Amino acid sequence: MKAIIPAAGLGTRFLPVTRVVPKEMLPIGAKPALELIVDEARAAGADEIVIVISEGKELIRKYFEGQPDIRFVYQKEQKGLGHAVLQAEIDDDALILLGDALVIGCCAAKEMVEVSKRHGGAAVIGCERVPKEKVSRYGIMKLEGDRIVDMVEKPAVEEAPSDIAVAGRYLLPAAIFGYLKTQTPGKGGEIQLTDAIKRMLAERDAYAYVYPGKRQDIGNPDGYFAALEAYRGNS
Ligand code: G1P
Repeated sequence: MKAIIPAAGLGTRFLPVTRVVPKEMLPIGAKPALELIVDEARAAGADEIVIVISEGKELIRKYFEGQPDIRFVYQKEQKGLGHAVLQAEIDDDALILLGDALVIGCCAAKEMVEVSKRHGGAAVIGCERVPKEKVSRYGIMKLEGDRIVDMVEKPAVEEAPSDIAVAGRYLLPAAIFGYLKTQTPGKGGEIQLTDAIKRMLAERDAYAYVYPGKRQDIGNPDGYFAALEAYRGNS
Protein backbone atom coordinates (compact mmCIF):
# COMPACT_ATOMS: atom_id res chain seq x y z
CA MET A 1 0.00 0.00 0.00
CA LYS A 2 1.13 3.50 -0.88
CA ALA A 3 -0.25 6.82 0.32
CA ILE A 4 -1.33 9.80 -1.75
CA ILE A 5 -1.71 13.19 -0.08
CA PRO A 6 -3.40 15.78 -2.31
CA ALA A 7 -2.03 19.18 -1.26
CA ALA A 8 -2.35 21.18 -4.47
CA GLY A 9 -5.28 23.44 -3.54
CA LEU A 10 -4.75 27.18 -3.70
CA GLY A 11 -5.75 27.95 -0.11
CA THR A 12 -8.08 30.79 -1.07
CA ARG A 13 -10.08 30.43 2.17
CA PHE A 14 -6.93 31.21 4.13
CA LEU A 15 -5.55 34.28 2.38
CA PRO A 16 -3.39 36.29 2.75
CA VAL A 17 -0.99 33.95 4.60
CA THR A 18 -1.37 31.27 1.91
CA ARG A 19 0.24 33.62 -0.62
CA VAL A 20 3.56 32.39 0.82
CA VAL A 21 2.75 29.56 3.27
CA PRO A 22 0.72 26.61 1.96
CA LYS A 23 -2.19 25.89 4.33
CA GLU A 24 -0.82 22.37 4.84
CA MET A 25 2.38 23.88 6.29
CA LEU A 26 0.71 25.88 9.04
CA PRO A 27 2.06 24.73 12.41
CA ILE A 28 0.22 22.46 14.80
CA GLY A 29 2.60 22.70 17.73
CA ALA A 30 6.12 22.36 16.34
CA LYS A 31 5.18 20.38 13.23
CA PRO A 32 3.46 21.48 10.06
CA ALA A 33 -0.04 19.98 9.81
CA LEU A 34 1.07 18.01 6.77
CA GLU A 35 3.72 16.16 8.76
CA LEU A 36 1.05 14.88 11.13
CA ILE A 37 -0.74 13.48 8.09
CA VAL A 38 2.49 11.93 6.79
CA ASP A 39 2.93 10.36 10.25
CA GLU A 40 -0.61 8.96 10.03
CA ALA A 41 0.14 7.43 6.61
CA ARG A 42 3.31 5.82 7.92
CA ALA A 43 1.56 4.51 11.03
CA ALA A 44 -1.00 2.87 8.74
CA GLY A 45 1.79 1.04 6.93
CA ALA A 46 2.22 3.04 3.71
CA ASP A 47 5.63 2.25 2.25
CA GLU A 48 5.73 5.22 -0.10
CA ILE A 49 4.04 8.61 0.13
CA VAL A 50 3.23 10.70 -2.93
CA ILE A 51 2.36 14.32 -2.20
CA VAL A 52 0.49 16.20 -4.92
CA ILE A 53 1.44 19.87 -4.98
CA SER A 54 1.00 22.77 -7.37
CA GLU A 55 3.33 25.47 -8.54
CA GLY A 56 4.06 27.94 -5.74
CA LYS A 57 3.84 25.29 -3.00
CA GLU A 58 7.51 24.32 -3.15
CA LEU A 59 7.90 25.03 0.57
CA ILE A 60 6.28 21.60 1.08
CA ARG A 61 8.90 19.98 -1.08
CA LYS A 62 11.71 21.81 0.64
CA TYR A 63 10.50 20.75 4.09
CA PHE A 64 10.23 17.05 3.29
CA GLU A 65 13.34 16.88 1.10
CA GLY A 66 15.60 14.09 2.24
CA GLN A 67 12.86 12.19 4.08
CA PRO A 68 12.83 8.63 2.74
CA ASP A 69 9.95 7.26 0.64
CA ILE A 70 8.31 10.61 -0.07
CA ARG A 71 8.01 11.92 -3.62
CA PHE A 72 6.22 14.80 -5.23
CA VAL A 73 4.07 15.21 -8.31
CA TYR A 74 2.48 18.37 -9.64
CA GLN A 75 -1.11 19.11 -10.48
CA LYS A 76 -0.68 21.73 -13.19
CA GLU A 77 -4.32 22.73 -13.51
CA GLN A 78 -6.94 22.99 -10.77
CA LYS A 79 -9.34 20.40 -12.17
CA GLY A 80 -10.60 18.87 -8.94
CA LEU A 81 -9.72 16.26 -6.33
CA GLY A 82 -10.10 13.30 -8.69
CA HIS A 83 -7.69 14.92 -11.14
CA ALA A 84 -5.20 15.66 -8.34
CA VAL A 85 -5.25 12.02 -7.21
CA LEU A 86 -4.80 10.83 -10.81
CA GLN A 87 -1.52 12.81 -11.08
CA ALA A 88 -0.11 10.47 -8.42
CA GLU A 89 -1.15 7.26 -10.18
CA ILE A 90 0.38 4.19 -8.54
CA ASP A 91 0.06 0.46 -9.23
CA ASP A 92 -0.79 -0.45 -5.66
CA ASP A 93 -3.61 0.04 -3.15
CA ALA A 94 -3.94 3.76 -2.51
CA LEU A 95 -4.44 5.25 0.92
CA ILE A 96 -5.60 8.79 0.20
CA LEU A 97 -5.33 11.38 2.98
CA LEU A 98 -6.51 14.89 2.16
CA GLY A 99 -3.76 17.34 3.05
CA ASP A 100 -6.08 19.83 4.72
CA ALA A 101 -8.01 17.25 6.77
CA LEU A 102 -6.39 16.66 10.10
CA VAL A 103 -7.83 13.82 12.16
CA ILE A 104 -7.26 14.20 15.87
CA GLY A 105 -7.98 11.52 18.45
CA CYS A 106 -7.39 8.36 16.42
CA CYS A 107 -5.27 7.04 13.59
CA ALA A 108 -8.10 6.90 11.08
CA ALA A 109 -5.93 5.47 8.29
CA LYS A 110 -4.61 2.62 10.41
CA GLU A 111 -8.10 1.69 11.56
CA MET A 112 -9.32 1.75 7.96
CA VAL A 113 -6.60 -0.74 6.98
CA GLU A 114 -7.94 -3.07 9.69
CA VAL A 115 -11.53 -2.61 8.49
CA SER A 116 -10.44 -3.39 4.94
CA LYS A 117 -8.76 -6.62 6.10
CA ARG A 118 -11.98 -7.68 7.83
CA HIS A 119 -13.79 -7.18 4.50
CA GLY A 120 -11.30 -9.21 2.47
CA GLY A 121 -9.27 -6.23 1.29
CA ALA A 122 -12.24 -4.17 0.05
CA ALA A 123 -12.20 -0.39 -0.37
CA VAL A 124 -12.93 1.62 2.78
CA ILE A 125 -13.90 5.26 3.05
CA GLY A 126 -13.36 7.19 6.26
CA CYS A 127 -16.57 8.95 7.22
CA GLU A 128 -18.20 11.19 9.76
CA ARG A 129 -21.77 12.13 10.62
CA VAL A 130 -22.58 15.71 9.67
CA PRO A 131 -25.54 17.94 10.56
CA LYS A 132 -28.24 17.62 7.92
CA GLU A 133 -27.93 21.29 6.92
CA LYS A 134 -24.26 20.79 6.03
CA VAL A 135 -24.56 17.79 3.69
CA SER A 136 -24.07 20.04 0.64
CA ARG A 137 -20.41 20.52 1.62
CA TYR A 138 -19.54 16.82 1.46
CA GLY A 139 -19.62 13.59 -0.45
CA ILE A 140 -22.62 11.75 1.03
CA MET A 141 -23.13 7.99 1.29
CA LYS A 142 -26.05 5.73 0.68
CA LEU A 143 -25.47 2.68 2.83
CA GLU A 144 -26.81 -0.81 3.40
CA GLY A 145 -25.34 -1.62 6.79
CA ASP A 146 -21.80 -0.34 6.32
CA ARG A 147 -21.65 -1.27 2.62
CA ILE A 148 -21.73 1.71 0.29
CA VAL A 149 -24.39 1.38 -2.40
CA ASP A 150 -24.22 4.93 -3.77
CA MET A 151 -22.43 8.24 -3.27
CA VAL A 152 -23.35 11.80 -4.19
CA GLU A 153 -20.94 14.74 -4.19
CA LYS A 154 -22.32 17.77 -2.36
CA PRO A 155 -26.06 17.04 -2.68
CA ALA A 156 -28.81 19.47 -1.77
CA VAL A 157 -30.30 18.72 1.67
CA GLU A 158 -33.45 17.21 0.16
CA GLU A 159 -31.42 14.92 -2.14
CA ALA A 160 -28.93 13.64 0.42
CA PRO A 161 -29.28 9.86 0.94
CA SER A 162 -27.94 10.09 4.55
CA ASP A 163 -25.93 12.24 6.94
CA ILE A 164 -22.80 10.09 6.56
CA ALA A 165 -20.10 12.12 4.82
CA VAL A 166 -16.73 11.38 3.26
CA ALA A 167 -14.23 12.70 5.79
CA GLY A 168 -10.85 13.08 4.16
CA ARG A 169 -9.60 9.47 4.13
CA TYR A 170 -9.94 6.75 1.49
CA LEU A 171 -8.43 3.30 1.03
CA LEU A 172 -8.95 2.35 -2.61
CA PRO A 173 -7.67 -0.36 -4.96
CA ALA A 174 -5.36 0.60 -7.85
CA ALA A 175 -8.39 0.09 -10.14
CA ILE A 176 -9.60 3.56 -9.09
CA PHE A 177 -7.10 5.13 -11.50
CA GLY A 178 -8.84 3.47 -14.44
CA TYR A 179 -12.11 5.12 -13.41
CA LEU A 180 -10.43 8.47 -12.82
CA LYS A 181 -8.94 8.44 -16.33
CA THR A 182 -12.39 8.25 -17.90
CA GLN A 183 -14.18 10.43 -15.35
CA THR A 184 -16.09 13.36 -16.79
CA PRO A 185 -16.41 16.61 -14.79
CA GLY A 186 -19.14 16.65 -12.14
CA LYS A 187 -20.07 19.07 -9.34
CA GLY A 188 -18.46 22.47 -9.89
CA GLY A 189 -17.15 21.38 -13.31
CA GLU A 190 -14.42 19.39 -11.52
CA ILE A 191 -13.23 15.79 -11.83
CA GLN A 192 -14.64 14.39 -8.60
CA LEU A 193 -13.11 11.44 -6.76
CA THR A 194 -16.61 10.71 -5.41
CA ASP A 195 -17.93 10.18 -8.96
CA ALA A 196 -15.13 7.76 -9.85
CA ILE A 197 -15.71 5.75 -6.64
CA LYS A 198 -19.44 5.68 -7.39
CA ARG A 199 -18.71 4.07 -10.78
CA MET A 200 -16.34 1.61 -9.14
CA LEU A 201 -19.16 0.44 -6.84
CA ALA A 202 -20.77 -1.34 -9.79
CA GLU A 203 -17.84 -3.76 -9.85
CA ARG A 204 -16.30 -3.72 -6.39
CA ASP A 205 -17.48 -3.56 -2.81
CA ALA A 206 -16.65 -0.56 -0.66
CA TYR A 207 -17.42 0.07 3.00
CA ALA A 208 -17.93 3.19 5.07
CA TYR A 209 -16.08 3.47 8.35
CA VAL A 210 -17.10 6.22 10.74
CA TYR A 211 -13.80 6.72 12.52
CA PRO A 212 -13.81 7.78 16.17
CA GLY A 213 -11.49 10.79 15.83
CA LYS A 214 -12.55 14.30 14.86
CA ARG A 215 -11.66 15.73 11.46
CA GLN A 216 -10.62 19.36 11.36
CA ASP A 217 -10.58 21.25 8.06
CA ILE A 218 -7.44 23.34 8.38
CA GLY A 219 -8.13 25.07 5.06
CA ASN A 220 -9.79 28.01 6.81
CA PRO A 221 -8.94 29.99 9.97
CA ASP A 222 -11.85 28.64 12.07
CA GLY A 223 -10.97 25.03 11.32
CA TYR A 224 -7.32 25.74 11.98
CA PHE A 225 -8.04 27.23 15.41
CA ALA A 226 -10.27 24.26 16.23
CA ALA A 227 -7.45 21.90 15.18
CA LEU A 228 -4.98 23.69 17.43
CA GLU A 229 -7.32 23.43 20.39
CA ALA A 230 -8.15 19.78 19.75
CA TYR A 231 -4.49 18.90 19.31
CA ARG A 232 -3.55 20.64 22.53
CA GLY A 233 -6.34 18.93 24.42
CA ASN A 234 -5.25 15.57 23.05
CA SER A 235 -1.48 15.78 23.59
C1 G1P B 1 -13.70 16.89 -0.65
C2 G1P B 1 -14.52 15.75 -1.27
C3 G1P B 1 -15.80 15.51 -0.47
C4 G1P B 1 -15.44 15.28 0.99
C5 G1P B 1 -14.62 16.47 1.54
C6 G1P B 1 -14.17 16.25 2.98
O1 G1P B 1 -14.42 18.09 -0.82
O2 G1P B 1 -14.81 16.06 -2.62
O3 G1P B 1 -16.47 14.39 -1.00
O4 G1P B 1 -16.62 15.10 1.77
O5 G1P B 1 -13.45 16.67 0.73
O6 G1P B 1 -13.33 15.16 3.07
P1 G1P B 1 -13.74 19.55 -0.63
O7 G1P B 1 -13.78 19.83 0.84
O8 G1P B 1 -12.34 19.44 -1.16
O9 G1P B 1 -14.60 20.49 -1.42
